[in-house]
Amino acid sequence: MTKRNPVSFLREEYQDIVAKGFDWKPPTLQGPAGPRARYNGKEVLVLCANNYLNLANHPKLKQASIDATEKYGAGSGSVRPIAGDMEIHLECERRVARFKHMEAALLYMSGFAANAGLLGPLAGGEVDVVLTDELNHGSIIDGLRLSKAERIIYKHNDLADLDRALQEAERKSAKRIMVVTDGVFSMDGDIAPLPGIVKAAEEHGALVYVDDAHGEGVLGQGGRGCVDHFGLTGRVQVEIGTFSKALGVVGGYAAGSKDLRSFALNKSRSWLLSAAPAPAVAGASIAAIELLEKEPQHVQRLWENTRYWKQQLQQLGFDTGRSETPIVPVMLGESHVAKKFSERLFDHGVFALPIVFPMVARDKARIRTIMNAGLTRQDLDQALEGFAAVGRELKVIR
Ligand SMILES: Cc1ncc(COP(=O)(O)O)c(C=O)c1O
Repeated sequence: MTKRNPVSFLREEYQDIVAKGFDWKPPTLQGPAGPRARYNGKEVLVLCANNYLNLANHPKLKQASIDATEKYGAGSGSVRPIAGDMEIHLECERRVARFKHMEAALLYMSGFAANAGLLGPLAGGEVDVVLTDELNHGSIIDGLRLSKAERIIYKHNDLADLDRALQEAERKSAKRIMVVTDGVFSMDGDIAPLPGIVKAAEEHGALVYVDDAHGEGVLGQGGRGCVDHFGLTGRVQVEIGTFSKALGVVGGYAAGSKDLRSFALNKSRSWLLSAAPAPAVAGASIAAIELLEKEPQHVQRLWENTRYWKQQLQQLGFDTGRSETPIVPVMLGESHVAKKFSERLFDHGVFALPIVFPMVARDKARIRTIMNAGLTRQDLDQALEGFAAVGRELKVIR
């Protein structure tokens, strides 16, 4: 009998990924994240980071993280239920709740951890039904895998199909019904039709759960997010957020009622069994929220750039898909075209990675650009020159 090699699959599976061209080779960032940054030894314009408002290296956030470290130390010491809440975590939760116009919030290590730990308990029973948009984020998909509820997947942003799914849930005599959607869809930059979703959910007594990772800092008054953008405050029961994108830090949260917070705190295993974020993270996150409350010009600047960028790309002849936000995909089709496009952009001093299957359908590969408030008009024009040159070279535009 040949002896089994317990680790041979590691290389085999990796080689298979490489052969199919789906492997990731993240370049190295040699300094702070920003709209202009140094990657692999080259200064480039960054057109694909989630750092929408250019806060990741903001002096106020850096100072707040230093101050929090000085006062509370480098680590939180433990899991909160075991060794207690730090004042700074509670303060951060109060600030999040106030910012989101919700009663309460609970911090998680990441937005991923919030979805992974909260969806299961919320849809916890065999007689529960969860309706989920087919393009929801992977962390929602994984969170729902931990749920005992039945899942009904409805067509992307399709209210008629959602209605069909709600009727189906009623027929199954569901005890609890929950509708789960991204606020802004991260691959296409389109926005969930929340007014229709909320109306339909209200008719069926369903809970609405919105993951607004790409909406906060971007949509709504002062960047309060997608729910605020549609004037639906008070009608969405759970909002998931992250500090890792527009807010420039890292870490996630769930915002909702005080009941939601107590429920999550006692039932969500990614909270109960995982350490609290470092004090520096909580401190910087508080500073980010404060900055948004006091300086709405960051959000305005992001949108000015977005309008210009999208209009100019379209004028050049690029297809920007169904983007309604600062996520602006440049649709290219085949993955090898998207990869080549990204490589050639880098030669032109523009950093924007390709998004290929399995993240998107095989024939829907793209360069996903994400606008940044810190890019100047000159930067955008320079980046546009790069896109135009590569687009013509690869015969994507004429
Ligand atoms: C819709 C959505 N939800 C959740 C996450 C995860 O957020 P975090 O980076 O805080 O884990 C992301 C990030 O990719 C996202 O796009």
